[in-house]
Amino acid sequence: MAAEPKPEILAAFQAAKGFMPVAEGLALYDAAAEAAALGLPLLEVGTYCGRSTILIADAARAAGVTALTVDHHRGSEEQQPGWEYHDPTVVDPEVGRMDTLPTFRRTLHAAGLEDHVVALVGRSPQVAAVWGGPLGFVFIDGGHTDEHANGDYEGWAPHVAEGGLLVIHDVFPDPAHGGQAPYRVYLRALESGAFTEISVTDSLRVLRRTGSGT
Ligand SMILES: C[S@@+](CC[C@H](N)C(=O)[O-])C[C@H]1O[C@@H](n2cnc3c(N)ncnc32)[C@H](O)[C@@H]1O
Repeated sequence: MAAEPKPEILAAFQAAKGFMPVAEGLALYDAAAEAAALGLPLLEVGTYCGRSTILIADAARAAGVTALTVDHHRGSEEQQPGWEYHDPTVVDPEVGRMDTLPTFRRTLHAAGLEDHVVALVGRSPQVAAVWGGPLGFVFIDGGHTDEHANGDYEGWAPHVAEGGLLVIHDVFPDPAHGGQAPYRVYLRALESGAFTEISVTDSLRVLRRTGSGT
């Protein structure tokens, strides 16, 4: 049976600013809860305002592990002024750039999850380069260009422990439904022979490490 978040956690997720639909959020929670049983940290790339972080953090709390979430908080390409996903309420007027960190912190505070999350503020490849330990779960939802999606895969997938889960968001096999970079990374993970798909929920793909390498 799938693990499900408590109603108050689901309500906090739904109230948070962000992009993840509920069905994908439930699949993310289930994967995070399963992976947390390995007793290793859970890591997300692409915090934004903390919507998906709430679910990962709650799964981490239940298992007594830590959730890590990486973001430079300056927004992806499609979130910049003039682009489809821009939100002017998350622009820092003093520096004139996006800054989603304050909203993220409010989101976590409201959900009562601050003590279970370590926020890593920086560029994903730079953080990955100094990260040394194994992870039970890696969720890739950062930049959606080939450069960024490949950088996230190359930086973080090697850290997924045997039996751990690699989850990729916005996987659209049909280009009419969305950008192709996350799909190409998903194919790359499968073709590596290191990962096996265990579930598909809309654009969310859950893979398990069943072999070595990446
Ligand atoms: C699609 S949003 C994440 C949405 C979030 N997971 C949710 O459910 O609401 C992508 C985020 O990735 C961040 N990002 C993009 N490229 C990045 C990089 N190279 N390093 C760190 N963060 C990055 C952006 O700042 C943005 O907040």
